[in-house]
Amino acid sequence: MEILNYLPRDLLQDKSVFITGGGSGINLGIARNFAALGANVGICGRTSKKLEIARAELEALGARVSTSVADVRDYDEIAKALQECEKTLGAIDCLVCGAAGNFLAPAENMSPIGFKTVIEIDLIGSFNTARAAFDQLKETRGSIIFISAGQTFGPYFAQSHVGAAKAGIDNLMRCLAMEWGSHGIRCNSIVPGPIAGTEGMKRLAAGGYERKWIEAIPLGRFGTVNDIGQMAVFLASPLASYVTGAHIVVDGGQNLPGSGVFGQLISESLGYQ
Ligand code: HXC
Repeated sequence: MEILNYLPRDLLQDKSVFITGGGSGINLGIARNFAALGANVGICGRTSKKLEIARAELEALGARVSTSVADVRDYDEIAKALQECEKTLGAIDCLVCGAAGNFLAPAENMSPIGFKTVIEIDLIGSFNTARAAFDQLKETRGSIIFISAGQTFGPYFAQSHVGAAKAGIDNLMRCLAMEWGSHGIRCNSIVPGPIAGTEGMKRLAAGGYERKWIEAIPLGRFGTVNDIGQMAVFLASPLASYVTGAHIVVDGGQNLPGSGVFGQLISESLGYQ
């Protein structure tokens, strides 16, 4: 987290953030970046063991931590988790809707329940969480960060469920930015690219295709969870106080049109590779 050395260590002192799916992956990376700058952190997820391991790590960074087992698909569970967090840390200043599910499945083989499951975790879970956090965010004039994905911009093979969910999340984000702007609540999406070591990449880049993925990324590397955590810190901070309704793409250029297979074919045909 060296880059955070450019920021005051107390940038987020006395602020609190609640992160769904915060026990692992990108969401835990976001939690660490907030904790390192003085914030207190609430995390929820489905697995108590993951949450407790994350708690120890975040406390070691100096944060006060609230953990709750909750599934974002269940409004009552997520509302209760947010209430518990408020009791421990006070009203939240930032909400990160990061809980997500994914698997590779071409539409012709996907069961209706499989499609519905991802819509329920990603899209309905994001609405449930934002809705349940509204009163706290209104009180603090806080902000919401939704975790989107490149699938929001265009079709990816075997990702029709994720594309539908993430495109829905991004439209929801813009609606809430418009409706809740009068309360001072800012809403933005981060669009991560392929992030090393995450469950998502284990699922998508399996089978020895890592090198080919990297070749399709203009910056020539996978991202890190800190790349996303740093952007989340920026969006939650006063540095972004006039930013709302935005998609912030943090993907090394992966989703630039033409940067993938077509770009490679053209550069090969011109003798560049
Ligand atoms: C086809 C599958 C499947 C697979 C599950 N299903 N896995 N279909 N291929 N590999 C189907 C099941 O058959 C079932 O339908 C339905 O989905 C629900 O499955 P369950 O296992 O009962 O659901 P649940 O326990 O709720 O698990 C949800 C899950 C699971 C999404 C399926 O994988 C999960 O919990 N994932 C959480 C972690 C995760 O996915 N993280 C990655 C996020 S990455 P039937 O009809 O059989 O009952 C991400 C970013 C993407 O989102 C972008 C990266 C660049």
